Amino acid sequence: MKITIFGTGYVGLVTGACLADVGHDVLCMDIDAGKIARLEAGEIPIFEPGLESMVQANVAAGRLAFTTDPAKAVAFGTLQFIAVGTPPDEDGSADLKYVLTVAETIGRHMDDYKVIVDKSTVPVGTADRVRDMVTKTLQARGEALDFDVCSNPEFLKEGAAIEDFTHGARIIVGTESERVQGLMRECYAPYIRRQEKLMFMEVRAAELTKYAANAMLATKISFMSEIANLAERLGADVEQVRRGIGSDPRIGYQFIYPGCGYGGSCFPKDVQALARTAADVDYRAELLTAVESVNQRQKQTLFAKLAQAFDGDLAGKTIALWGLAFKPNTDDMRDAPSRTLMEALWGAGARVQAYDPEAMKECRRLYGERDDLVLVGDRIQAVKGADALVICTEWKEFRTLDFAWLKQQLAMPVVVDGRNLFEPEIVKNAGLLYYAVGRGESL
Ligand code: UGA
Repeated sequence: MKITIFGTGYVGLVTGACLADVGHDVLCMDIDAGKIARLEAGEIPIFEPGLESMVQANVAAGRLAFTTDPAKAVAFGTLQFIAVGTPPDEDGSADLKYVLTVAETIGRHMDDYKVIVDKSTVPVGTADRVRDMVTKTLQARGEALDFDVCSNPEFLKEGAAIEDFTHGARIIVGTESERVQGLMRECYAPYIRRQEKLMFMEVRAAELTKYAANAMLATKISFMSEIANLAERLGADVEQVRRGIGSDPRIGYQFIYPGCGYGGSCFPKDVQALARTAADVDYRAELLTAVESVNQRQKQTLFAKLAQAFDGDLAGKTIALWGLAFKPNTDDMRDAPSRTLMEALWGAGARVQAYDPEAMKECRRLYGERDDLVLVGDRIQAVKGADALVICTEWKEFRTLDFAWLKQQLAMPVVVDGRNLFEPEIVKNAGLLYYAVGRGESL
C-alpha cells in the first residue's frame, strides 16, 4: 500500500517506520529541509530505542523515503496521515494551524481519491474542520474530488513507541465509511492478530477516546499523589497501600506509582486541552482541573522536601540531581519534574550538578550555559562535593546504590527520592536522611 505521512516528528516517524517495516511503501513529508536531509542520511532527531535501525533498514530496502515536496507527497499515497504537531495555545487548547495547513496542502494538490487520516492528538471536531478545509481548497480550484477524513489516534509511549505501535492494546479508527474501513484494515492488517484490536467507531468518539485514555491515566497518577501526600501525614507507607489496592483487578497495578508528578508532551497538554474543550461546550470539568492542579503541586514537593531538610536555606548549596528526562528511556524534558525542581533551586540560590543518561544535550539546549548548572558525565561525578542528592527519574542505572559510599560523598546526608527506588529502612540504616514520596515522613 502507498502511504504518505505529513510530519516527521515523534509520531510521524514512528508510524512511517513501522508501516514501512511491514511492507508498505511510505513517503514522509516535512517542511523542515534540514530535518529531511538528516533523515535521508539515516540520522534520527529523537532518542527512541530501535527507531534508528528501523528507519535505516527500511530506507535501504527502498520502502521508506523522505521529501519536502508537497505535490509529490500528496500524489504518493491513497492514505494521507497527518502527524504534525499541535502545540498548546496560551489557553491550553490545542493549536490546529499545522494540521489545517496540511489539509489545505492536500486540497491544493490532490487529483484522485484520498483518505486523510488524523493521527495527531487533536480536539473533538477536528476531522470536521479538516474536511471543511479540504472542501474549501478544492472549491477554490474549481474541483469536486472525492475524499474522506478519519481519526486514527496514536497511543505511543515515548521509550516504547515501536512496541506500542506493533503490539498496542487497540487500533482506533473513527469512520463510518466502509471504503475507509477497508483501506484502514489493509493498512493495519499485519498488526491485527486479534480482530477485536481494530475498533471502528464514529469519528468524534475516536477523537474523544484519545483524550479520555490519557486523562484517565493522568487521573490515576494524581490520585496516587494525593494518597501519597496523605500517607506522609498519616504515617503510612504508600508503597504498601499501592500493593494493596493494585491487587484488585478493577484497579490494577499499572499507573499507580506515586512520584514527583507526571510530565512529558502528552498528559499535561492533553488534560488541559480536554478541560478547555469542556469549557468550550459550557461544561465545568472539575475532575480534570483537579488532576492538573494536583500534579502541579506534586512537582513542587521535591523542592519542598529539600527546603525542609535544609531549614529553608538552600543558598550556596550544591544539589546533585539524577535524572532530567520526564521518565526513563527518553531524552524528553517537556514538563519534566526535574525542571520545576531546578528552577526552584536556582530561585533559592542553589547550584545544580546534574546527570541523565540521555537528556544532557536537551538540558543544555533548554537552559544554556549558566554558573548554577553543571552537567556531568556520570552519576558518581554528580554527587562529588554535593550537599544533597535528588532523584527525579527512575533510570535503571540508578536503582542500585552503595549507601555507605553515598553518605561519605554528601556534605549533608540528605537523599530526596522522587521515584521511591529504595527501601527507607535500608537507606536510613546507612545513616542517610531519606525523603521518598508518601513513605511515612511528614512535611
Ligand atoms: C502517554 C501515554 O502513556 C500513551 O499511551 C499515549 O499515547 C501518549 O501519552 C501520548 O498521548 O502520545 P508518555 O507521555 O510517553 O505516554 O509517557 P508515560 O509512560 O505514559 O508516562 C507519563 C508520565 O507519567 C511520566 O512522567 C511518568 O513518570 C508518569 N507516571 C507514569 C507516574 O508518575 N506513575 C505511574 O504509575 C506511571
